[in-house]
Amino acid sequence: MAFTRRSFIRTIAAGVAVGSIQPFGAPHAKAMSDDGQPNPLKLPRVFAGGTIMVMSGSVNVYENHSTNARVFGSYPGVAIVANRGDEQTIKLHNMTDSSLAVHWHGLDVPSAMDGHPMDAFGSGTTKEYSFRILNRAGTYFYHSHSHMRTAVDVYKGLAGAFIVHDQEELALGLPSGERDVPIVIHDARFDAAKQFVYAPTMTDKMEGWLGNVMLANGTPNAYLDVTPSFYRLRLVNGSNARIYDLRLSDNSELFVIAGDGGLLTKPIKVESVKLAPGERAEVLVDFSRYESGTSVVLKTGKFNVPVGHMGAPTYPQGVEYSIIEFRVAGTKDVSFTVPAELSVIPPLPDLTGVPVRMFETAMSMMGGMKHTINGKTFEMMRTDFEVNSGEMEIWELRNMEPDMLHPIHVHGPQFRVLSRSSGPLAPHETGYKDTILLNPLETIRILVTPSRYSGMSLIHCHNLEHEDDGMMLNFMVNATTGVHEEALGEIEVYPQPSSDAIMVRRTIDIDERLEIIDVNGRIVHSTIISGSESQIQISHLVRGSYNVRVGRFSTSIIKQ
Ligand code: C2O
Ligand code: CU
Ligand code: CU
Repeated sequence: MAFTRRSFIRTIAAGVAVGSIQPFGAPHAKAMSDDGQPNPLKLPRVFAGGTIMVMSGSVNVYENHSTNARVFGSYPGVAIVANRGDEQTIKLHNMTDSSLAVHWHGLDVPSAMDGHPMDAFGSGTTKEYSFRILNRAGTYFYHSHSHMRTAVDVYKGLAGAFIVHDQEELALGLPSGERDVPIVIHDARFDAAKQFVYAPTMTDKMEGWLGNVMLANGTPNAYLDVTPSFYRLRLVNGSNARIYDLRLSDNSELFVIAGDGGLLTKPIKVESVKLAPGERAEVLVDFSRYESGTSVVLKTGKFNVPVGHMGAPTYPQGVEYSIIEFRVAGTKDVSFTVPAELSVIPPLPDLTGVPVRMFETAMSMMGGMKHTINGKTFEMMRTDFEVNSGEMEIWELRNMEPDMLHPIHVHGPQFRVLSRSSGPLAPHETGYKDTILLNPLETIRILVTPSRYSGMSLIHCHNLEHEDDGMMLNFMVNATTGVHEEALGEIEVYPQPSSDAIMVRRTIDIDERLEIIDVNGRIVHSTIISGSESQIQISHLVRGSYNVRVGRFSTSIIKQ
């Protein structure tokens, strides 16, 4: 299937000269930064195949200044855009002076391709990552996962967006092209020479490194020209430690359509979306509500956080900052209507008898203060626990500390959030997730289905200072009978074309939902299949082509 929506990310080299900026829009809407100079939002280039050069060198974070950064191909890191079902190959040539592991955050890939720090490749060498895209359409990202230097690598630029499309999502006709905007947000500190400052003190290691300059796709004090119409914003929190409560400056509504693992069942209207490091959400914004010539700012609002026992960091959490100013101009286009339904997320299965595994986060005083999970800190080659491919488990995450926030991330397939002891789930937490913010003294239950791929995997805190400090455990995914790596959940449907019934053959026999989707993206048939071979009646369907989707895989069929 040819991908036709690549145009949304324009090629804008970092440091393109920009003419003088005219005062624009309402005065309330000025974004602030440390030099007051607005900069056009940088948009990532799209990976077009081949090799990504991983470099350390100078880029223009600020116009007319060189800043030493670390980049995947360009600054901001190239965006990888793929379709579900694709075989994706990405070669990376490491031109930096340290070894590098790269992780495809949110994607379910073979263990050897997952960017475990033990699989790092050295300076001057090339590594080929290749895997099948099993994930649903959504906004994922990729970043350095190098041993004890994930924080500094990501902080200096080693991160990029990874966008997956699928037929279900394309059929929705969501805003596309220039109106589909990836926004990777991170905060930084700069010195007078506009160099990244990274010098965590003991307090910073406890709280995580927090900056006072908000960067959107590496752009300080960013603005984006938009037309008065609907936009799809793909929000990625790529920060080391900062949590954002993202909202518009006039508090007008956002429609959340996706969380970490893609589309929700339906759009949910909110005033703000809170994202911890590693989390993503997609929102639809209606800029046709604004008059041409005015602007509105995407900002992070105030929220309360407990003061840590090491005292407040220099630039605390929960403080208001502007991130991007949207300058609205042009003729109103009100042709888009927010769809009523987005996707089908199967109801939670019966959880009786599903084993519960406990994880406690705490602080150890042994050998200096360390963030721990189950009393342990990371050891590269130690297996901390074992799970079986495809066998569901409930993981109970308990934060034992009154003053620490931990965004907990699980590698491999997306999980479902079952409960939060602090209250209901936020809208973007109701779909598939791979990272969840564990608040002080909170308990969260998640439903984890271990990958079909056996091998070592990771659970860790996505506060990157905590991660580098060792707040990470290895878990071994054991292959189980009936789950074969080579099968990858592939399905075979025959006969083709068919008229009355189709046979669906799988090489695995776990319970999965089968859906038949018509050309308009409507789900016309939905059922749970369990055996490796199932017969599905399709005589009630009108002639035409359909998509049959089982679990993470889909294929098209023709009904005669
Ligand atoms: Cu985004 Cu293991 O990390
Ligand atoms: Cu991950
Ligand atoms: Cu943490």
